[in-house]
Amino acid sequence: MKRTRQASLRNLNSFSVEAFADQLLELDSADDLQEFTSTHRFDPACDLVLGGGSNILFAADTHGTVILNRVTGKRIIADSNDEVLVEAWAGENWHKLVLWSLEQGLSGLENLALIPGLAGAAPMQNIGAYGVELSDVFDSLEALDLNGGGMREFKHGDCHFGYRDSRFKSHDAGRFLIIRIRLRLRRHFVPKLAYQGVREELNTMGIDEPGPAEVSEAVIRIRRRKLPDPAVTGNAGSFFKNPVVSRSLAEQLQKDLPGLPLYSQENDQVKLSAAWLIEHCGWKGRSMGRAAVSAQHALVLINKGDATGSEILALAEAVQASVKTNFGVELEPEPLIIGA
Ligand code: EPU
Repeated sequence: MKRTRQASLRNLNSFSVEAFADQLLELDSADDLQEFTSTHRFDPACDLVLGGGSNILFAADTHGTVILNRVTGKRIIADSNDEVLVEAWAGENWHKLVLWSLEQGLSGLENLALIPGLAGAAPMQNIGAYGVELSDVFDSLEALDLNGGGMREFKHGDCHFGYRDSRFKSHDAGRFLIIRIRLRLRRHFVPKLAYQGVREELNTMGIDEPGPAEVSEAVIRIRRRKLPDPAVTGNAGSFFKNPVVSRSLAEQLQKDLPGLPLYSQENDQVKLSAAWLIEHCGWKGRSMGRAAVSAQHALVLINKGDATGSEILALAEAVQASVKTNFGVELEPEPLIIGA
């Protein structure tokens, strides 16, 4: 188990902002996990489990221990004719796991290509893109109860998945260290092309009947075009969730704002496009200090270089305030904000 005191977190968050942790513990093996369990007393008030750092904003230092679970490994654990159960340890890079699954001839993850982060964080916020959510392929996970409850297994129904949400992000936030996840993938491929842009991209690529690798290639092309690369420009993907409101409010808004995209949900609810609302407040491409709203996608806040976490937070708050003033809609941040 690697231990660093007064550790810089700059290279451990995709915004690339500077912040320090009193202590950093890196777990690289099953032995490290064992040692961690027997020696560290987790304090949920100040300790933090960090995955790929792609969904977090450090607006302050953390006066506790940051735990990095970097234990890797992936394998097929059950294989019937069509359905294949894949297990991945939390430290696996998500995108590499997607590519590996495609190499095994498996489908299910192709629409989720190029999402930054690690496999262990995928269930936390039920990652989703281009018409698919992790919950569509999720089977179960094992996690360590940091309250001293030992290892626990969570089946699909135990995780309380929602839009960008699960029990691990909401009422059990900070309590569990996800150790490994299991996904239910398929050999027989049924493409999921409900998201219009994927079909259009495939058309541009000259492909009528895509295989899983071609769908993933289309998704990769769209993402590269629409979203800034965090390896080049610090960002955490979508900074806000798309707000879900009642149908009556959505229809009233659309009357005043023709063109506002609406996406019907269950229970007479409607999801609004946060990016559209932000762009129509004039924020797209605008800077505040060293932080900015991306000119590529209005839902993405970027670090223009050397921004502090508080500068990015100040921008986020200004964007929220203007969407509220102009349209009466509350935007909820998607990343975890430390020091909010
Ligand atoms: N739009 C604008 N301005 C922009 C960008 C988009 O007005 O700058 C409008 C357009 O009308 C567009 C609509 O917003 O048709 C939707 O845009 P997009 O398809 O890019 O999707 P999104 O709702 O903005 C969500 C996810 C993304 C995911 C895409 C594709 C959330 C919070 N974000 O974005 O996830 O890649 O759908 O499925 O649900 C992430 O979570 O980090 C992320 C990138």
